[in-house]
Amino acid sequence: MTQPLVDPFQRAITYLRLSVTDRCDFRCVYCMSENMTFLPKKELLTLEELDRLCSAFIGLGVEKLRITGGEPLVRRDILTFFDGMSRHLESGALKELTLTTNGSQLERFADQLYAAGVRRVNVSLDTLDEQKFADITRWGRLPQVLRGIDAAQRAGLRVKINTVALKGFNEDELFTLAEWCASRDMDLTFIEVMPMGDIGNEDRLGQYWALSDLRARLAEQYTLTDLAERTGGPARYVRLEETGQKIGFITPLTHNFCESCNRVRITCTGEIYTCLGQEGHCDLRKPLRASQDDAVLEDAIRAAISLKPRGHDFDYSRQDVAGRVSRHMSHTGG
Ligand code: GTP
Ligand code: 5AD
Ligand code: SF4
Repeated sequence: MTQPLVDPFQRAITYLRLSVTDRCDFRCVYCMSENMTFLPKKELLTLEELDRLCSAFIGLGVEKLRITGGEPLVRRDILTFFDGMSRHLESGALKELTLTTNGSQLERFADQLYAAGVRRVNVSLDTLDEQKFADITRWGRLPQVLRGIDAAQRAGLRVKINTVALKGFNEDELFTLAEWCASRDMDLTFIEVMPMGDIGNEDRLGQYWALSDLRARLAEQYTLTDLAERTGGPARYVRLEETGQKIGFITPLTHNFCESCNRVRITCTGEIYTCLGQEGHCDLRKPLRASQDDAVLEDAIRAAISLKPRGHDFDYSRQDVAGRVSRHMSHTGG
């Protein structure tokens, strides 16, 4: 038996988030600046290399694989990669193959994703108002995403909506969003905005809406019951007794969840980031290309995980943005 991956704080690493492209067909204002410079295509790991890398992690005990971006479905031929990963689902080594997407390409790909063994997708959606959607994503159009969500549900995929809680932007849609998700049998997770990347005109504190406040507002209309269940991610869930639906809270600012962190991230060029909220990373592309023998790669993976930090240092509590990281969310896929 190979030794499982365990970090210096005795956390087992069983969840890999792989970003397959830094590109996106949207330009969400809290994620990207309008003029982003993207990596030249030749810098990217090939689909075969992505497969080898993920397979190595699965061999080391990773049970959950989430494909991210940028927008993962804009990477050319990415369904070939998903198809390849389904062999690890069939063998039982991988328990879940999933993705986080902006939904723009789901209409095209939902059936193929299901056929590859994907059963659940997380779709990022911050508003149900067409104009606000166009404003916040700069380049996105809501009807296209809604058609994508329809297609995903028709294909049999369970959909979870991820909404970044943004002060003055979607505060007034809290109940609309919750009711819309309930009516379509979708879970909903709110995320606190994190200080990542130079987004131009930055006003993180102005954007920040604490989920403790959001939760209190929900409790004015619904009875909330805390749930013990976890999906392997950082969200903590409640059930709204009146509708039966689940609502998740991802609270890097108001309630740190790093002590139970079980994941690492890989970028589309093969860098491994062992914490979303820290700058530290190691290169896996070189060991990947150095030898066809996975031993070199596995040593590099273990070395990177031996440096995994305790957690992020994001903090707005002093009316200032602390713990900022320079890379954009799209670099490591959230
Ligand atoms: P589930 O499998 O549905 O639980 O998903 P997940 O929450 O693991 O993944 P998802 O891609 O939906 O994550 C939503 C967002 O939560 C990410 O885009 C990040 O903004 C945030 N997030 C996920 N993991 C971490 C983490 O380790 N640290 C911090 N600070 N934020 C995270
Ligand atoms: N803080 C919190 N969430 C963010 N996302 C993008 N940028 C940020 C940020 N600065 C979210 C997206 C998507 C997920 C991948 O990360 O909305 O749901
Ligand atoms: Fe694209 Fe997601 Fe970033 Fe929006 S948040 S620009 S959809 S990567």
